Amino acid sequence: RMPHVSQCYNLLDFEDIARQTMRKTAWAYYSSGADDEITLRENHAAFHRIWFRPKVLVDVSKIDLSTTMLGCPSSVPFYITATALGKLGNPEGEVVLTRAGYRENVIQMIPTLASCSFDEIVDAKQGDQIQWLQLYVNQDREITRKIVQHAEKRGCRALWITVDAPQLGRREKDMRSKYDEQAANVQDDESAVDRSQGAARAISSFIDPALSWKDIPWFQSITKMPIVLKGVQRAEDAIKAVEFGVDAILLSNHGGRQLDFARPGIEVLAEVMAALRQHGYEHKIEVYIDGGIRRGTDILKAICMGAKGVGIGRPFLYAMSTYGETGVVRAMQLLKDELAMNMRLIGATKISDLDESFVEVGSIATH
Ligand code: FNR
Repeated sequence: RMPHVSQCYNLLDFEDIARQTMRKTAWAYYSSGADDEITLRENHAAFHRIWFRPKVLVDVSKIDLSTTMLGCPSSVPFYITATALGKLGNPEGEVVLTRAGYRENVIQMIPTLASCSFDEIVDAKQGDQIQWLQLYVNQDREITRKIVQHAEKRGCRALWITVDAPQLGRREKDMRSKYDEQAANVQDDESAVDRSQGAARAISSFIDPALSWKDIPWFQSITKMPIVLKGVQRAEDAIKAVEFGVDAILLSNHGGRQLDFARPGIEVLAEVMAALRQHGYEHKIEVYIDGGIRRGTDILKAICMGAKGVGIGRPFLYAMSTYGETGVVRAMQLLKDELAMNMRLIGATKISDLDESFVEVGSIATH
Protein backbone atom coordinates (compact mmCIF):
# COMPACT_ATOMS: atom_id res chain seq x y z
CA ARG A 1 0.00 0.00 0.00
CA MET A 2 1.19 3.52 -0.81
CA PRO A 3 1.82 5.70 2.21
CA HIS A 4 -0.11 8.98 2.24
CA VAL A 5 1.81 11.79 0.58
CA SER A 6 2.06 13.58 3.93
CA GLN A 7 4.17 10.63 5.10
CA CYS A 8 6.91 11.63 2.67
CA TYR A 9 9.23 13.64 4.88
CA ASN A 10 11.99 14.35 2.40
CA LEU A 11 12.82 13.95 -1.28
CA LEU A 12 14.49 10.57 -0.81
CA ASP A 13 11.18 9.16 0.47
CA PHE A 14 9.65 9.77 -2.97
CA GLU A 15 12.51 7.87 -4.55
CA ASP A 16 11.95 4.85 -2.27
CA ILE A 17 8.26 4.74 -3.06
CA ALA A 18 8.92 5.22 -6.78
CA ARG A 19 11.35 2.30 -6.76
CA GLN A 20 8.69 0.07 -5.26
CA THR A 21 5.70 1.20 -7.30
CA MET A 22 6.80 2.47 -10.72
CA ARG A 23 6.66 0.35 -13.86
CA LYS A 24 10.01 -1.32 -14.41
CA THR A 25 10.76 0.36 -17.74
CA ALA A 26 9.94 3.80 -16.37
CA TRP A 27 11.98 3.28 -13.21
CA ALA A 28 14.90 2.04 -15.32
CA TYR A 29 14.82 5.10 -17.59
CA TYR A 30 14.50 7.65 -14.78
CA SER A 31 16.88 6.17 -12.26
CA SER A 32 19.71 4.95 -14.44
CA GLY A 33 23.16 6.46 -14.81
CA ALA A 34 26.00 5.75 -17.22
CA ASP A 35 28.23 2.66 -16.99
CA ASP A 36 28.97 1.80 -13.34
CA GLU A 37 26.99 4.79 -12.05
CA ILE A 38 29.94 6.15 -10.07
CA THR A 39 29.17 9.74 -11.04
CA LEU A 40 25.48 9.18 -10.31
CA ARG A 41 26.38 8.08 -6.76
CA GLU A 42 28.95 10.83 -6.18
CA ASN A 43 26.62 13.62 -7.27
CA HIS A 44 24.76 13.43 -3.99
CA ALA A 45 27.62 12.05 -1.88
CA ALA A 46 29.86 15.03 -2.74
CA PHE A 47 27.64 17.32 -0.67
CA HIS A 48 28.52 15.25 2.39
CA ARG A 49 32.09 16.55 2.17
CA ILE A 50 31.11 20.18 2.78
CA TRP A 51 30.42 21.55 6.25
CA PHE A 52 28.74 24.71 7.48
CA ARG A 53 30.22 27.55 9.52
CA PRO A 54 27.05 29.04 11.06
CA LYS A 55 26.79 32.54 12.45
CA VAL A 56 25.03 32.90 15.79
CA LEU A 57 22.93 35.71 17.27
CA VAL A 58 21.52 36.84 13.95
CA ASP A 59 17.84 37.87 13.96
CA VAL A 60 16.34 35.13 11.80
CA SER A 61 12.69 35.71 12.62
CA LYS A 62 11.97 36.48 8.95
CA ILE A 63 13.35 34.37 6.11
CA ASP A 64 13.07 35.29 2.42
CA LEU A 65 13.90 32.52 -0.07
CA SER A 66 13.08 34.51 -3.20
CA THR A 67 15.64 35.28 -5.87
CA THR A 68 16.10 35.91 -9.59
CA MET A 69 17.64 33.53 -12.10
CA LEU A 70 18.48 34.76 -15.61
CA GLY A 71 16.51 37.88 -14.81
CA CYS A 72 13.41 35.83 -13.89
CA PRO A 73 11.84 36.12 -10.43
CA SER A 74 11.43 32.88 -8.49
CA SER A 75 10.19 31.97 -5.02
CA VAL A 76 13.29 29.81 -4.52
CA PRO A 77 16.82 29.36 -5.88
CA PHE A 78 15.93 26.01 -7.48
CA TYR A 79 14.07 25.11 -10.67
CA ILE A 80 12.54 22.04 -12.31
CA THR A 81 15.18 20.89 -14.76
CA ALA A 82 14.51 19.30 -18.14
CA THR A 83 13.94 15.56 -18.09
CA ALA A 84 12.72 13.69 -21.16
CA LEU A 85 9.73 11.35 -21.43
CA GLY A 86 7.44 12.53 -18.62
CA LYS A 87 4.65 10.19 -19.70
CA LEU A 88 6.69 7.16 -18.72
CA GLY A 89 6.03 8.13 -15.11
CA ASN A 90 2.66 9.83 -15.31
CA PRO A 91 0.08 9.52 -18.12
CA GLU A 92 -0.34 13.30 -18.19
CA GLY A 93 3.38 13.95 -18.59
CA GLU A 94 5.23 17.25 -18.16
CA VAL A 95 2.11 19.39 -17.67
CA VAL A 96 1.92 17.91 -14.17
CA LEU A 97 5.23 19.63 -13.42
CA THR A 98 3.93 22.84 -15.01
CA ARG A 99 0.91 22.92 -12.69
CA ALA A 100 2.99 22.18 -9.60
CA GLY A 101 5.48 24.84 -10.67
CA TYR A 102 2.66 27.36 -10.88
CA ARG A 103 1.35 26.50 -7.43
CA GLU A 104 4.76 26.86 -5.82
CA ASN A 105 6.17 29.62 -8.05
CA VAL A 106 9.02 27.43 -9.28
CA ILE A 107 10.42 27.86 -12.80
CA GLN A 108 10.17 24.93 -15.24
CA MET A 109 12.67 24.04 -17.95
CA ILE A 110 10.90 22.35 -20.88
CA PRO A 111 12.84 19.45 -22.47
CA THR A 112 13.25 19.10 -26.23
CA LEU A 113 12.28 15.45 -25.77
CA ALA A 114 9.15 16.00 -23.69
CA SER A 115 6.30 13.50 -24.01
CA CYS A 116 3.75 16.30 -24.21
CA SER A 117 4.18 18.61 -27.17
CA PHE A 118 5.98 21.88 -26.52
CA ASP A 119 2.77 23.84 -27.08
CA GLU A 120 0.80 21.68 -24.64
CA ILE A 121 3.35 22.49 -21.96
CA VAL A 122 3.26 26.21 -22.71
CA ASP A 123 -0.54 26.15 -22.82
CA ALA A 124 -0.59 24.60 -19.33
CA LYS A 125 1.21 27.68 -18.00
CA GLN A 126 -0.84 30.03 -15.81
CA GLY A 127 -0.53 33.72 -15.02
CA ASP A 128 2.99 35.05 -15.26
CA GLN A 129 4.53 31.64 -14.72
CA ILE A 130 8.05 31.32 -16.15
CA GLN A 131 9.36 28.59 -18.45
CA TRP A 132 12.73 28.01 -20.09
CA LEU A 133 13.65 25.76 -23.00
CA GLN A 134 16.23 22.98 -22.98
CA LEU A 135 17.63 22.41 -26.45
CA TYR A 136 19.16 19.39 -28.09
CA VAL A 137 20.72 20.75 -31.26
CA ASN A 138 19.56 19.02 -34.42
CA GLN A 139 21.90 18.19 -37.29
CA ASP A 140 19.37 20.11 -39.38
CA ARG A 141 19.87 23.66 -38.10
CA GLU A 142 16.62 24.83 -39.70
CA ILE A 143 14.70 22.54 -37.35
CA THR A 144 16.66 23.96 -34.43
CA ARG A 145 16.08 27.52 -35.57
CA LYS A 146 12.32 26.89 -35.71
CA ILE A 147 12.25 25.32 -32.25
CA VAL A 148 14.19 28.21 -30.71
CA GLN A 149 12.24 30.99 -32.40
CA HIS A 150 8.92 29.32 -31.67
CA ALA A 151 9.88 28.99 -28.00
CA GLU A 152 10.83 32.65 -27.82
CA LYS A 153 7.56 33.64 -29.47
CA ARG A 154 5.64 31.55 -26.96
CA GLY A 155 7.27 33.35 -24.06
CA CYS A 156 10.14 31.12 -22.99
CA ARG A 157 12.61 33.24 -21.07
CA ALA A 158 15.91 31.39 -21.54
CA LEU A 159 17.61 28.89 -23.82
CA TRP A 160 19.57 26.08 -22.18
CA ILE A 161 21.71 24.34 -24.79
CA THR A 162 22.77 20.87 -23.71
CA VAL A 163 26.48 20.50 -24.46
CA ASP A 164 27.31 17.28 -22.60
CA ALA A 165 25.54 14.88 -24.93
CA PRO A 166 27.17 14.65 -28.38
CA GLN A 167 26.26 11.01 -27.96
CA LEU A 168 23.93 9.61 -25.34
CA GLY A 169 25.63 7.70 -22.53
CA ARG A 170 25.21 3.95 -22.03
CA ARG A 171 22.62 3.43 -19.36
CA GLU A 172 22.54 -0.28 -19.07
CA LYS A 173 19.55 -0.55 -16.77
CA ASP A 174 17.59 1.36 -19.39
CA MET A 175 19.02 -0.71 -22.26
CA ARG A 176 17.90 -3.90 -20.55
CA SER A 177 14.34 -2.74 -20.23
CA LYS A 178 12.10 -2.33 -23.22
CA TYR A 179 11.38 0.94 -24.91
CA ASP A 180 7.77 1.94 -24.33
CA GLU A 181 6.47 3.39 -27.55
CA GLN A 182 3.18 4.75 -26.32
CA ALA A 183 4.78 6.90 -23.69
CA ALA A 184 7.09 8.68 -26.05
CA ASN A 185 6.19 11.48 -28.38
CA VAL A 186 8.50 10.51 -31.17
CA GLN A 187 7.79 12.34 -34.36
CA ASP A 188 10.68 10.97 -36.40
CA ASP A 189 10.47 7.86 -38.47
CA GLU A 190 10.11 5.39 -35.62
CA SER A 191 10.94 2.36 -37.69
CA ALA A 192 14.43 3.77 -38.18
CA VAL A 193 15.04 3.67 -34.45
CA ASP A 194 17.05 0.87 -32.87
CA ARG A 195 15.20 0.08 -29.66
CA SER A 196 17.72 -2.42 -28.32
CA GLN A 197 19.69 0.58 -27.08
CA GLY A 198 16.98 1.61 -24.60
CA ALA A 199 14.58 4.54 -24.48
CA ALA A 200 17.25 7.20 -24.30
CA ARG A 201 19.19 6.25 -27.38
CA ALA A 202 16.10 5.44 -29.37
CA ILE A 203 14.94 9.03 -29.33
CA SER A 204 18.19 10.93 -29.56
CA SER A 205 19.73 9.99 -32.89
CA PHE A 206 19.12 13.49 -34.32
CA ILE A 207 21.50 15.22 -31.88
CA ASP A 208 24.44 16.84 -33.69
CA PRO A 209 27.85 15.59 -32.51
CA ALA A 210 29.48 18.36 -34.59
CA LEU A 211 28.12 21.11 -32.34
CA SER A 212 31.01 23.38 -31.31
CA TRP A 213 31.96 26.83 -29.98
CA LYS A 214 31.74 28.11 -33.56
CA ASP A 215 27.96 27.67 -33.38
CA ILE A 216 27.49 29.97 -30.37
CA PRO A 217 27.34 33.26 -32.36
CA TRP A 218 24.67 31.68 -34.57
CA PHE A 219 22.48 30.97 -31.54
CA GLN A 220 23.05 34.54 -30.36
CA SER A 221 21.94 35.77 -33.79
CA ILE A 222 18.67 33.84 -33.87
CA THR A 223 17.35 34.63 -30.39
CA LYS A 224 17.24 37.34 -27.76
CA MET A 225 16.72 34.80 -24.98
CA PRO A 226 19.64 34.53 -22.54
CA ILE A 227 21.78 31.53 -23.51
CA VAL A 228 22.98 28.96 -21.00
CA LEU A 229 25.43 26.13 -21.71
CA LYS A 230 24.08 23.07 -19.92
CA GLY A 231 26.82 20.64 -18.96
CA VAL A 232 30.08 22.61 -18.58
CA GLN A 233 32.65 20.63 -16.54
CA ARG A 234 35.93 22.56 -16.33
CA ALA A 235 37.20 26.05 -15.54
CA GLU A 236 38.72 26.60 -19.00
CA ASP A 237 35.31 26.18 -20.61
CA ALA A 238 33.71 28.52 -18.08
CA ILE A 239 36.23 31.21 -19.06
CA LYS A 240 35.57 30.50 -22.73
CA ALA A 241 31.84 30.84 -22.14
CA VAL A 242 32.39 34.34 -20.75
CA GLU A 243 34.54 35.24 -23.73
CA PHE A 244 31.86 34.01 -26.13
CA GLY A 245 29.34 36.26 -24.37
CA VAL A 246 27.22 33.42 -23.06
CA ASP A 247 24.87 34.53 -20.26
CA ALA A 248 25.20 31.55 -17.94
CA ILE A 249 26.65 28.09 -17.51
CA LEU A 250 25.25 25.03 -15.82
CA LEU A 251 27.89 22.84 -14.20
CA SER A 252 26.35 19.45 -14.67
CA ASN A 253 27.08 15.89 -15.65
CA HIS A 254 23.50 15.26 -16.83
CA GLY A 255 22.56 13.52 -13.59
CA GLY A 256 25.36 10.98 -14.02
CA ARG A 257 23.82 9.74 -17.27
CA GLN A 258 26.60 10.72 -19.69
CA LEU A 259 30.31 10.47 -18.88
CA ASP A 260 30.91 8.15 -15.94
CA PHE A 261 33.68 9.63 -13.74
CA ALA A 262 32.65 13.15 -14.60
CA ARG A 263 32.97 15.13 -11.38
CA PRO A 264 29.97 16.22 -9.31
CA GLY A 265 28.74 19.73 -10.14
CA ILE A 266 29.53 20.98 -6.64
CA GLU A 267 33.20 20.01 -7.10
CA VAL A 268 33.38 21.73 -10.46
CA LEU A 269 31.76 24.80 -8.90
CA ALA A 270 34.73 25.32 -6.56
CA GLU A 271 37.13 25.20 -9.49
CA VAL A 272 35.02 27.40 -11.75
CA MET A 273 34.35 30.14 -9.19
CA ALA A 274 38.06 30.34 -8.36
CA ALA A 275 38.93 30.72 -12.05
CA LEU A 276 36.19 33.30 -12.71
CA ARG A 277 37.41 35.39 -9.76
CA GLN A 278 40.99 35.13 -10.95
CA HIS A 279 39.95 36.56 -14.32
CA GLY A 280 37.68 39.19 -12.79
CA TYR A 281 34.76 37.48 -14.53
CA GLU A 282 32.62 36.53 -11.53
CA HIS A 283 29.97 39.15 -12.33
CA LYS A 284 29.99 38.52 -16.08
CA ILE A 285 28.18 35.21 -16.04
CA GLU A 286 25.69 33.33 -13.87
CA VAL A 287 26.66 29.88 -12.68
CA TYR A 288 24.21 27.06 -11.96
CA ILE A 289 24.70 23.50 -10.86
CA ASP A 290 22.62 20.35 -10.86
CA GLY A 291 22.97 16.68 -9.99
CA GLY A 292 22.18 14.90 -6.75
CA ILE A 293 20.49 17.84 -5.06
CA ARG A 294 18.07 16.28 -2.58
CA ARG A 295 18.19 18.48 0.54
CA GLY A 296 17.82 22.13 1.44
CA THR A 297 21.37 21.99 2.76
CA ASP A 298 22.63 20.86 -0.67
CA ILE A 299 21.06 23.97 -2.19
CA LEU A 300 22.47 26.26 0.49
CA LYS A 301 25.97 24.87 -0.01
CA ALA A 302 25.79 25.52 -3.75
CA ILE A 303 24.53 29.07 -3.30
CA CYS A 304 27.17 29.81 -0.66
CA MET A 305 29.85 28.61 -3.07
CA GLY A 306 28.68 30.97 -5.80
CA ALA A 307 25.83 29.29 -7.69
CA LYS A 308 22.92 31.51 -8.66
CA GLY A 309 20.55 28.55 -8.52
CA VAL A 310 20.29 24.78 -8.81
CA GLY A 311 18.35 22.34 -10.97
CA ILE A 312 16.45 19.36 -9.64
CA GLY A 313 15.54 16.42 -11.88
CA ARG A 314 14.71 12.96 -10.57
CA PRO A 315 13.05 13.92 -7.26
CA PHE A 316 10.26 15.76 -9.08
CA LEU A 317 9.92 12.91 -11.59
CA TYR A 318 9.54 10.42 -8.75
CA ALA A 319 7.03 12.65 -6.96
CA MET A 320 5.10 13.08 -10.22
CA SER A 321 5.13 9.33 -10.89
CA THR A 322 3.84 8.38 -7.46
CA TYR A 323 1.50 11.15 -6.30
CA GLY A 324 1.10 13.36 -9.39
CA GLU A 325 0.78 17.11 -8.92
CA THR A 326 0.17 16.75 -5.17
CA GLY A 327 3.44 14.88 -4.84
CA VAL A 328 5.46 17.46 -6.75
CA VAL A 329 3.93 20.28 -4.69
CA ARG A 330 4.74 18.36 -1.51
CA ALA A 331 8.34 17.83 -2.66
CA MET A 332 8.74 21.54 -3.38
CA GLN A 333 7.24 22.50 -0.02
CA LEU A 334 9.55 20.10 1.80
CA LEU A 335 12.54 21.70 0.11
CA LYS A 336 11.28 25.17 1.01
CA ASP A 337 10.83 24.12 4.65
CA GLU A 338 14.31 22.64 4.73
CA LEU A 339 15.77 25.76 3.12
CA ALA A 340 14.07 28.13 5.54
CA MET A 341 14.99 26.08 8.60
CA ASN A 342 18.63 25.68 7.59
CA MET A 343 18.96 29.36 6.69
CA ARG A 344 17.87 30.12 10.27
CA LEU A 345 20.34 27.62 11.63
CA ILE A 346 23.28 29.05 9.75
CA GLY A 347 22.28 32.65 10.49
CA ALA A 348 21.17 33.95 7.09
CA THR A 349 17.84 35.61 6.31
CA LYS A 350 17.91 36.02 2.55
CA ILE A 351 19.60 34.45 -0.46
CA SER A 352 21.95 37.40 -0.96
CA ASP A 353 23.34 36.81 2.57
CA LEU A 354 24.80 33.49 1.50
CA ASP A 355 28.52 33.53 0.76
CA GLU A 356 31.63 31.38 1.03
CA SER A 357 32.14 32.27 4.69
CA PHE A 358 29.27 29.91 5.57
CA VAL A 359 30.95 26.77 4.22
CA GLU A 360 34.12 24.84 4.80
CA VAL A 361 35.12 23.65 1.36
CA GLY A 362 38.63 22.55 2.21
CA SER A 363 37.74 18.95 1.53
CA ILE A 364 36.73 19.66 -2.08
CA ALA A 365 39.47 19.23 -4.63
CA THR A 366 40.11 22.35 -6.69
CA HIS A 367 42.02 22.09 -9.89
C1 FNR B 1 17.65 14.01 -17.75
N1 FNR B 1 18.46 15.07 -18.12
C2 FNR B 1 18.29 15.67 -19.34
N2 FNR B 1 19.04 16.75 -19.70
C3 FNR B 1 18.88 17.33 -20.90
O1 FNR B 1 19.57 18.31 -21.20
N3 FNR B 1 17.96 16.86 -21.79
C4 FNR B 1 17.17 15.79 -21.50
O2 FNR B 1 16.36 15.37 -22.31
C5 FNR B 1 17.33 15.16 -20.24
N4 FNR B 1 16.60 14.07 -19.92
C6 FNR B 1 16.72 13.50 -18.68
C7 FNR B 1 15.89 12.45 -18.33
C8 FNR B 1 15.97 11.89 -17.07
C9 FNR B 1 15.06 10.76 -16.70
C10 FNR B 1 16.89 12.40 -16.13
C11 FNR B 1 16.99 11.83 -14.74
C12 FNR B 1 17.72 13.44 -16.48
C13 FNR B 1 19.44 15.65 -17.15
C14 FNR B 1 18.77 16.65 -16.25
O3 FNR B 1 18.43 17.83 -16.94
C15 FNR B 1 19.66 17.05 -15.07
O4 FNR B 1 20.93 17.42 -15.53
C16 FNR B 1 19.79 15.94 -14.02
O5 FNR B 1 18.58 15.23 -13.92
C17 FNR B 1 20.13 16.49 -12.66
O6 FNR B 1 20.39 15.47 -11.78
P1 FNR B 1 19.30 14.90 -10.72
O7 FNR B 1 18.62 16.07 -10.04
O8 FNR B 1 18.34 14.04 -11.49
O9 FNR B 1 20.14 14.12 -9.79
